[in-house]
Amino acid sequence: MKVSGVDLGAIAEEFGTPTYIIDFKRVRKNYMRLDKALNCPHVIAYAYKANYEPQLVRMLALMGSGATVPSAYGVMLAMWAGVPPEKVVLVGPSPSRQDLEEAVMYKALISVESESEVEALGRIGKARVMIRVNTGVGAGAHPSLITGGQKTKFGLPPSRALSLARFLGSTMEVEGFHTHIGSQILSAEPFKKAVELLTKLARDLGKVNVIDMGGGLGIPYLNEKKFPLEEYSQVVCRASENIGALLVIESGRYIVGDAGYLLTRVNYVKEVGKEKWLLIDAGMNDFLRPALYNAKHRITVDKEKPKEKYLVAGPICESADLFGEYDLPKLGEGDLVVIRDVGAYGFSMASRYNLRPLPAVVAVDNGKYNLLRERENFGRAIFG
Ligand SMILES: Cc1ncc(COP(=O)(O)O)c(C=O)c1O
Repeated sequence: MKVSGVDLGAIAEEFGTPTYIIDFKRVRKNYMRLDKALNCPHVIAYAYKANYEPQLVRMLALMGSGATVPSAYGVMLAMWAGVPPEKVVLVGPSPSRQDLEEAVMYKALISVESESEVEALGRIGKARVMIRVNTGVGAGAHPSLITGGQKTKFGLPPSRALSLARFLGSTMEVEGFHTHIGSQILSAEPFKKAVELLTKLARDLGKVNVIDMGGGLGIPYLNEKKFPLEEYSQVVCRASENIGALLVIESGRYIVGDAGYLLTRVNYVKEVGKEKWLLIDAGMNDFLRPALYNAKHRITVDKEKPKEKYLVAGPICESADLFGEYDLPKLGEGDLVVIRDVGAYGFSMASRYNLRPLPAVVAVDNGKYNLLRERENFGRAIFG
């Protein structure tokens, strides 16, 4: 299989497996499609948590992208990538003192989510802030991906967000309101409801400079429809223009999701009764989404029919280390298996669970490839 003119088999041969591939050309295309669709003053503050590979975020910064970061290290990485401070947004429900200090020092925009966070911030200094609102709207492909609605730790109810914004006016630079309703959303409808509430709050407050609609734009993993980008952009642009505010979008998955591939090889095939297990060398430590969100990803192999039913699983001593049931051509030890659409929340969620090294990461771009991250060795993985 070739991606951006590079043969993935040759990469697996040279760097071993499991190895992540990032197609930089695809990332640029995704970013430009989103940027073009947003027909109003906007900043795409790419969500670093989706994939924080330094060369990747630097390329996006060169294209004009901002950064949504969850921590002090995220702020530092955005600075390193050359993102201007006014395009950096610190977002998280419980930032540490270091997270806040770094954001204040760099003059990043801080999304505050509680009155007690504001007190802590006040002890650090004057900051540029927006208030994160729980609009009551939540959406996403799995309960753990929903960040708005009932019983959520995120944001403040609208009336409290408004009171806090009024109260803060004299001590902080209050830029506006923020929400992030969830992730892997495939309809514009929930965004419409959320943006209506944010614009109402903005009007009640008077003037705001920014409304930040968070991320959440989904991608088709299997047979889902594409995200309705035009409809979404009309909805959010109309709202932000009506109140004369800059629109901030914190998209992650939409920009990098389909640009990632996980190269893995078959270790063993094991038959028990009617079940045929395809045991591959990548596991939930390398790629967590199936175990965490019950997510199913496309798998591609370089073989033809006849197809067989396999339960595809990794090497980790957990029954949750399962990629799902697949109809695949007959495979055997050493065959290459490519897990698709792993560019978002892939490497960035990887761990060393079961004493395994973090995998290698390779960039491909217009027929060329480049090792971004070596597979960890014993010393690095175990002793740190
Ligand atoms: C506050 C915030 N913004 C943006 C994102 C990015 O979301 P997505 O990758 O779905 O665009 C997330 C993801 O969880 C988030 O929590």
